[in-house]
Amino acid sequence: MRLLLFIMINIIFSPLLILGLIAYTYRLRRHSIPHKISGTANEPYAARLFMHLAGTREDAVAYALSGHLPVYSKLVHYSLVKVSHLALTASGFKGSFLSYPGPRPSNLATFLSHRTAFFDGVVTNAFEREDNRIKQFVVLGAGFDTRCYDFRESADVKCFEVDMAPTLKAKVEALTLAGVAHDHVNFVETDFNQKTWFDALIERGFSPNLTTFILWEGVTMYLNEDAVLETLKLVSRLPMGSEIAFDYFSGELINHEPPYDKLGPRMTKSAMRFYEEELQYGISTRKPARENLENVVRDCGLRVSRFEHTQSEDPPVIPLYCFASAKTYHN
Ligand SMILES: C[S@@+](CC[C@H](N)C(=O)[O-])C[C@H]1O[C@@H](n2cnc3c(N)ncnc32)[C@H](O)[C@@H]1O
Repeated sequence: MRLLLFIMINIIFSPLLILGLIAYTYRLRRHSIPHKISGTANEPYAARLFMHLAGTREDAVAYALSGHLPVYSKLVHYSLVKVSHLALTASGFKGSFLSYPGPRPSNLATFLSHRTAFFDGVVTNAFEREDNRIKQFVVLGAGFDTRCYDFRESADVKCFEVDMAPTLKAKVEALTLAGVAHDHVNFVETDFNQKTWFDALIERGFSPNLTTFILWEGVTMYLNEDAVLETLKLVSRLPMGSEIAFDYFSGELINHEPPYDKLGPRMTKSAMRFYEEELQYGISTRKPARENLENVVRDCGLRVSRFEHTQSEDPPVIPLYCFASAKTYHN
């Protein structure tokens, strides 16, 4: 019944929705990408925004930014976001892709809510622990993530958002236009593929001597192997109890190997064609998937503290997508 009502409202407002989709694609292809503002950052942002609209996960700042971001312009906000909000609230429909924390195992439609829930859980755990408290929170490849804005009251945690200059500039502009306080966030414009990005962080006030939590969500797949491993090695030099949470695609998918020899090329092609961003890095998820990760992370001086993936263990499969957290342990 809810689904039916949701579909009927969407049909009634379909001209507006179509206009919104055209405006979305136009803004992405003709504005965002030519200005080198991340296109892929819109996907996890949309997942969190629509979960907020469906009432499954609150993210008031994501909603405040809608109408001010490069792709989520005023036109997209009123034709797509507002209409979807109306359809979702009037029908009460949530759909598995907007549920939170989402079904397990997850799939290509629901992995973003699984991912959001995983990272929410790791961040909350890190901030709630009593021993060796987190003093710095860094969002690497921040895109349009809004978690720093939940920590405003927590004056003793320094917040940093790191991303390429065009994406960060667009975000700061949106925060300003939306009236979202952001004085407590240090924005660090840099490129992880350059060796100097950690220096840029230090220049903006980051201390390598303080216990730090690093959120690295939805980024490793767009980097080359050296950049990923170098980042993990840099984290291993932070004080004990520091942690980095990240996600990665199956190396088999990235390398177009079975069982992802068909899906891999399709995903690589669509990421390039739609967003002009290349899928580059993955870790083998052949059994034992966790051990493969542990080997990579150990070689970088860290220890895996949490690991999850999207697939079921029964029957055993090669996971498509994994979520992990790793901690420093030696200093
Ligand atoms: C898929 S988005 C994820 C954004 C955000 N973490 C989230 O989950 O909403 C990937 C982000 O990584 C950033 N990124 C990709 N390659 C980068 C690089 N070489 N240096 C700095 N940032 C990079 C992009 O600009 C983009 O904001």
